[in-house]
Amino acid sequence: MDKLLIEGPAKLSGIVKISNSKNAYLPILAGVLLSSKRVRLKNLPALRDIRTMVKLLENLGVKSTPDITKANYSFLADNITSLEATYDLVKTMRASVLVLGPLLARYKRAKVSLPGGCAIGTRPIDIHLSCMSKLGAKVQLEGGYVEVSAEKLIGTRIVLPFPSVGATENVMMAAVLAQGETVIENAAMEPEIEDLGNFLIAMGVKIEGLKTSSIKVQGTTVSNLKEVEYEAIPDRIEAGTYLMAALATHSEITIENAIASHLDCVIDTLKNMGAKLEIGKRQIKVFASTLKGVNIDTAPYPGFPTDLQAQLIALATQSNGQSIISEHIFENRFMHVPELNRLGAGIVLKSNAAIIPGNLQLKAAPVMCTDLRASAALAIAALAAHGTTQMQRVYHLDRGYDGLDIKLKNLG
Ligand code: UD1
Repeated sequence: MDKLLIEGPAKLSGIVKISNSKNAYLPILAGVLLSSKRVRLKNLPALRDIRTMVKLLENLGVKSTPDITKANYSFLADNITSLEATYDLVKTMRASVLVLGPLLARYKRAKVSLPGGCAIGTRPIDIHLSCMSKLGAKVQLEGGYVEVSAEKLIGTRIVLPFPSVGATENVMMAAVLAQGETVIENAAMEPEIEDLGNFLIAMGVKIEGLKTSSIKVQGTTVSNLKEVEYEAIPDRIEAGTYLMAALATHSEITIENAIASHLDCVIDTLKNMGAKLEIGKRQIKVFASTLKGVNIDTAPYPGFPTDLQAQLIALATQSNGQSIISEHIFENRFMHVPELNRLGAGIVLKSNAAIIPGNLQLKAAPVMCTDLRASAALAIAALAAHGTTQMQRVYHLDRGYDGLDIKLKNLG
């Protein structure tokens, strides 16, 4: 997609089906590198980040075969030819660092470009690296690359200084082929971590403590890992985005393939604002609701997700009364605010908090997408605004929203 024109104010209606989770599939794809047996993954979302990760695997020597439906892939990592994730790929997608743990564990060595700065903060990988050291790896930084190597990895108890999602996933995968037991304390508890754990369990790995902050992984050998077929969980962030789009436009829609328990904090927050929701099995129905303002802080799961902060700000412009939304996970994650203000949102930033006056009549304007979730927020605001909003740089949306334009068109 090049640009997106959204004509508002829109009224959405009908059913939207949520795709499977990008953030669950990215570590699972990296996990393909652990095994020499076939891995079949079902219903991958059609997203640029997924294509980037598949390309990275292919560069390392993994054979990948999309089946006729194109959404299912079969992978075979029985002949890895490179142990290096190059700058070209890592710079476009930070999640490329997830190959570090599996490559190190299986091949005793890996070289990965440092991700560098990105639009929503500096996002270092120091926690990933200190965890690899604790498992026994030597870590060297040179020429913008990190090189890790180890004769063998030895399971141990690792206490994360912060429940980093990516670091938890990287250690879980490294621990699969380490000697003995690894215990990860203060582990991230996001549903995508549980999903990675379930994928590894399906491969034959023994893991305890999923859904808790203390995860135990029993090391095994490559030959013990089994062929596996797996389908990841639905994308909770995509589901949350459509929830907010419906509420911002006083619409009634049904969101299918959504697991409400993965959105507990989001659903509670929206209900406290006045949202009328009906929760079903893998389904959430949203009714036209009158909302009031909200005060909320982003936090690691089960707290309010940083990946829905921008969309909630867009929704808050349509609520009655002031909202204060604070960001605690990433610095500099308010790039959507000046763009929302171009539509007349009147948001004021004070350190890590956005103060949204609410009850605003937004007016269409040309806007620029700055990152993935910022783009989703602009789309929500554009649906509520009067006139035609032209969104530029929408390639950010292609990274993480499967067919957003088509899904919105289907909703009217
Ligand atoms: C993942 C998600 C991303 C989400 C984020 C937080 C994927 C592919 N991406 O990103 O969409 O916004 O979780 O829910 O799943 N940090 C360090 N050092 C490290 C690692 C992280 O300082 O070694 C900091 C980061 O800069 C950031 C915070 O910790 O400020 C959270 O990062 P982390 O939980 O690791 O997020 P990601 O795994 O990158």
